Amino acid sequence: ERLPELLSLMPKAELHIHIEGSLEPELIFALAKRNDVQLPYADVAALRSAYAFTNLQSFLDLYYAGASVLLHEQDFYDMAWAYFEKAKADHVVRAELFFDPQTHTARGVAMGAVIEGLSRACRDAHTQLGISADLILCFLRHLSEDEALATLEEAMPWREHFIGVGLDSSELGHPPEKFARVFARARELGLHCVAHAGEEGPPAYIWGALDVLQVERIDHGVQAIHDAGLMQRLADSQMPLTVCPLSNLKLCVFKNLADHNLGQMLDAGLCITLNSDDPAYFGGYLNDNYLQTFAALHLNAQQAYKLAANSIEASFAPEADKHRWM
Ligand code: ADE
Ligand code: ZN
Repeated sequence: ERLPELLSLMPKAELHIHIEGSLEPELIFALAKRNDVQLPYADVAALRSAYAFTNLQSFLDLYYAGASVLLHEQDFYDMAWAYFEKAKADHVVRAELFFDPQTHTARGVAMGAVIEGLSRACRDAHTQLGISADLILCFLRHLSEDEALATLEEAMPWREHFIGVGLDSSELGHPPEKFARVFARARELGLHCVAHAGEEGPPAYIWGALDVLQVERIDHGVQAIHDAGLMQRLADSQMPLTVCPLSNLKLCVFKNLADHNLGQMLDAGLCITLNSDDPAYFGGYLNDNYLQTFAALHLNAQQAYKLAANSIEASFAPEADKHRWM
């Protein structure tokens, strides 16, 4: 009965959090008012009641609508700061935040406002909360590779403000191979590379992320279970998977949390980490993911230590910091 305390209190890293997905309905309405943005929902309760998703796309439609209230540097700061306060309560010592610049620049928001606001929050998280935090710039895969390349170049004046690139948004129909050139460019620039693969998409998309994009982590990856050769590859290479159980539940990747394959993947020797994805939309931050998953799958303390150690080991933090946290 000490397991919930262990899960809550142990130091952990969060490696898969879309910062726009941490925008709570209350903050969406506060920012809408501050920025004079009209929302197609009467109030917080009406917005929250729309959070009933059937798949990834049904969520993304609301997620992009919610992000429309973000206009100024301070808005991005406030959003990230609200997340860091939650992360602190969950004993997160390291956070690597995904952000989607194209969602904002497409609305006329300046790249500098996005990156400088988020970056300032990361610095304050370190000095005021003791959380080590960095940014990962994600390309929207439903847009073209040329648009991704233009976005990367547009962000170059802020090169020192982010540590890597990722690939997110609608997975089906947008295989990793579509982004081969922009990931090659990112690698040339010394950026870390990660990609969403095998959330809804087939194992072939995980193979593509590994072999063509040459990623250092797979985001989600739960569909790997359907390919024995891929499971062997992931186990042998200890390629980290950033798994998000409450996200998978809310987006109907699994019907019940008890059906989640995270336990099977751990048993197969894969390097699994637990993460929240879009906590404001999926009903829980990092500790909620740990607590609910451990209860549903009857996982034990040894598996708790393993998941926390994996999260720190798989992070892009300096080695000296990793040693301090483990
Ligand atoms: N953007 C935000 N959350 C996402 C997810 N779970 N999959 C793909 N793109 C996303
Ligand atoms: Zn995600």
